[in-house]
Amino acid sequence: MSDALLEVSHLSKSFESGNLEKGMIPAVRDVSFQINRGECLGIVGESGCGKSTLARLITLLTPADSGKIRLNGSEYMHSKDKGREIYRQIQMVFQDPFSVFSPRMQIGTFLEDGLVYYQLLTRRKAAEEAVKLMRMVELPEELLNRFPHQLSGGQLQRVVIARAISIHPSLIILDEATSALDVSVQKQILELLVRLKKEQKLTYLFIGHDLAVVRSISDRIQIMYAGSVVEELRSENLKQAVHPYSRELLDSIFSVRDRHTERIQVKTLSLADAGYEACGCQYRRRCPCAMSVCAEKVPELTKAGQEPGHTAACFLVSR
Ligand SMILES: Nc1ncnc2c1ncn2[C@@H]1O[C@H](COP(=O)(O)OP(=O)(O)OP(=O)(O)O)[C@@H](O)[C@H]1O
Ligand SMILES: [Mg+2]
Repeated sequence: MSDALLEVSHLSKSFESGNLEKGMIPAVRDVSFQINRGECLGIVGESGCGKSTLARLITLLTPADSGKIRLNGSEYMHSKDKGREIYRQIQMVFQDPFSVFSPRMQIGTFLEDGLVYYQLLTRRKAAEEAVKLMRMVELPEELLNRFPHQLSGGQLQRVVIARAISIHPSLIILDEATSALDVSVQKQILELLVRLKKEQKLTYLFIGHDLAVVRSISDRIQIMYAGSVVEELRSENLKQAVHPYSRELLDSIFSVRDRHTERIQVKTLSLADAGYEACGCQYRRRCPCAMSVCAEKVPELTKAGQEPGHTAACFLVSR
């Protein structure tokens, strides 16, 4: 059996922008990658670059325009009867845990429901399992009888993670799962995710906009810009990133740490507002190294640097 758990090939999705001048928004364009069993692939990029759309395409919450997705070797995007099984096999954890709960449902019922819905356990056995799950995510059993508003955001996110794990998924997609939490709680949840991944042999797709956070948990990182993957490399080699956009992100990590500089860039620009380039490299107008070829052709991911698995979509590399 190959190591690949999830294989995404040439996945694309455009949305109507609602503005005649801007036309369609290419939210995800021709994205291909694979995630191996037991690894954590991180996806990082600024707001509007298509991270959540990519996650929604993989989980079939949004239909793709084109492309293929395989889980354990079988293509599932066009197979109607696989929907329910895919919803079990690929679990999502979102930024806002409150949005997942019904306000009048007790925490215990929330944990039991997944197990009962997928007919993995009876209600009575599921209640016993809920106690074990709480222990696994380091929460006291007493919280099982509480309602969502009686828990903190960090505690609720632990419950959401426990439920995701409870039904034995193949892949857990964490979309900004720690972004809303304060720094110390964020660190605890990241540590919990690392421990659970090891103990339960889990596979993650971890999406975030903070390169330092994504690096701290991921084995490999993909950097996305305007719907495309512009660079991929192992986390430990991040400093060797070559794409000018990756360099911009890396510089902003280091400038946050260096209090003597004022180079902290808070990126609030939405790509939809900025507009997409009709041809060539999407990054070229922001790029300090732009050349004439960048306006003419779209750079493809090609081997970069010496490390295996390091690719970048930039004419600085592929010339
Ligand atoms: N259902 C939709 N209809 C129209 N446009 C959409 C829809 N969903 C996403 N978009 C657009 O697609 C682009 C990518 O959005 P997406 O939510 O995937 O970005 P993101 O990288 O997750 O951003 P963030 O970091 O803010 O969560 C944006 O321009 C967004 O406005
Ligand atoms: Mg998002």
